[in-house]
Amino acid sequence: MCKKNYKIGVFDSGLGGITVLKRLLKDLPYEEYIYYGDSGNAPYGSGKTKEEIQDLCTKIMDFLIENNCKVVVIACNTATVAALEYLKERYSIPIIGIVDSGAKIAIQNSSLKKVAVFSTEFTANSDAYKNKIQKYDRDFEVTQIACIEFCPMIEKGWETFDNNQEILGKYINRIPNDVDSLVLGCTHYPIIEDYIKKKFNRVILDPAVGVSLELKKLLEDLDIRNDNKIKKKPIFFITGELDKFKPTAEKFLGEEIEIYRIPK
Ligand code: DGL
Repeated sequence: MCKKNYKIGVFDSGLGGITVLKRLLKDLPYEEYIYYGDSGNAPYGSGKTKEEIQDLCTKIMDFLIENNCKVVVIACNTATVAALEYLKERYSIPIIGIVDSGAKIAIQNSSLKKVAVFSTEFTANSDAYKNKIQKYDRDFEVTQIACIEFCPMIEKGWETFDNNQEILGKYINRIPNDVDSLVLGCTHYPIIEDYIKKKFNRVILDPAVGVSLELKKLLEDLDIRNDNKIKKKPIFFITGELDKFKPTAEKFLGEEIEIYRIPK
């Protein structure tokens, strides 16, 4: 099979990566996608070491390569922080992370050079966003806020929690008043973007836009863009319960999905 017809692998600790996949489907609709959601091992962003996350990502990479992927997109900030460089040293296929896009989008959109980043505990503690943003522009002030409850609540169904507004409010209140933009530095968070918008009326930035541009450029540079003009539906493999993942994913993507459960 010609490399152009190989697939794009997209992975996350669970549901979050579908927010990136949705963008990729819109911008690169003729590529074929495999989505791996490691919901049986979620969350990645609290209670796991860097080495544990690297091991989980290695297993996912092997699965995606066995299933004929030509490129892998790590649609998870936590996995990008913990494992992007590690995986790049071990695999020969191109791998795209998400944090660099998040940093660039912050630089391009904050005129006051003051941003806040909502993320997992692991990402916040790593200072990855602060370091990346300040590498591009040292004058930026970056407030990193670890929203510990968000990912598990989104995985279980955000709407089913009576205290979701209270929890959201707690983190919104931690955003300094002089910040002009908020980066959603965890791919799960765009799923609740409408709720965030109601409480935060400044600019909200989703790094997925940049990932899609980076992927397009990479496929063109390597001349591996799929030139069949046939849209194929993405196939989902998840390691957790289908009845938790499927309804949220279908609601967010706006269509029925083909999904299989695999061992974690
Ligand atoms: N969606 C992931 C991220 O972008 C991680 C969520 C988690 O498993 O803690 O960081």
